[in-house]
Amino acid sequence: MIAIKEIKLRIEEAEPQISEIFDIKESLPSPPLVLTKIVELTSDPSTPVGKVADVLAMEPGICAQLLRLSNSAYYARSRTVSSAREAVVMLGFHMIRSMVVSMVAKDLYEKSSSVPELRDTLWEHSLATAVFARMLATRERSCNPEEAYLTGLLHDFGKLIFLEQLGEVYTEILASAEDGMLHAYAREKSEIGVAHPILGGVIANNWLFPDQIIHAIVAHHEECSLVSLSGIVGLANLFVTSLDHNFSGLDEHERELLNQFDLEEMEGPFEEQFEAHRALFES
Ligand SMILES: [Fe+2]
Ligand SMILES: [Fe+2]
Repeated sequence: MIAIKEIKLRIEEAEPQISEIFDIKESLPSPPLVLTKIVELTSDPSTPVGKVADVLAMEPGICAQLLRLSNSAYYARSRTVSSAREAVVMLGFHMIRSMVVSMVAKDLYEKSSSVPELRDTLWEHSLATAVFARMLATRERSCNPEEAYLTGLLHDFGKLIFLEQLGEVYTEILASAEDGMLHAYAREKSEIGVAHPILGGVIANNWLFPDQIIHAIVAHHEECSLVSLSGIVGLANLFVTSLDHNFSGLDEHERELLNQFDLEEMEGPFEEQFEAHRALFES
């Protein structure tokens, strides 16, 4: 596993490289205040429930969506959740955080100026990775399932920014990946100089996400296991790619890596959960 010190060093080195391509401050989305506040408060288990509920209550849009999600069949609870406070008590800090991140991420995808079909493929891939990472984390108990979900959702956020900032140049890189010529990841390194995992890490770092999430975003093409958050997100990315939930398939090395894990029996339950989960974001 890559040490967090090394990850932070890579982020420091990547920032000036990214600045040569586009203006980081101007171009990277700044996190909505509600997101940074919720990430900060829910990272500390001793935060009073009322404080988290107060922040949510200040954002009527987020709050309404949160109640709708909480009462949906997918998250069904034994009784109806009717206030932000009840939602926090019943769902817990980690689930509230992953729900807020999913709403903010969906909004950023919708507002993105990138080509709609590519943006939609990327959103679906991210959602699929999130759902499967959560299933693996629940089964293995090696990391928090909600943390796995939100990291899966954000792992390729760097790609969305490349699509917005580089337009056709990046569209062409993704198209060649789709043709199976060369992985987008390898072409980003050689043609842009920076690859999407490190760009995602720079964003997550700017958004003050916890270290383990930053680590998992940066390392998602380098780590693959069942024993850590970063390994699980890396494995979920390969698994959903093998099921066609991405721009391209797997290369030989990735296929070999994935085959070391016996995941076939999870295919059916995954597709079922993914469809149910995707429907949550469609209304
Ligand atoms: Fe990726
Ligand atoms: Fe991915």
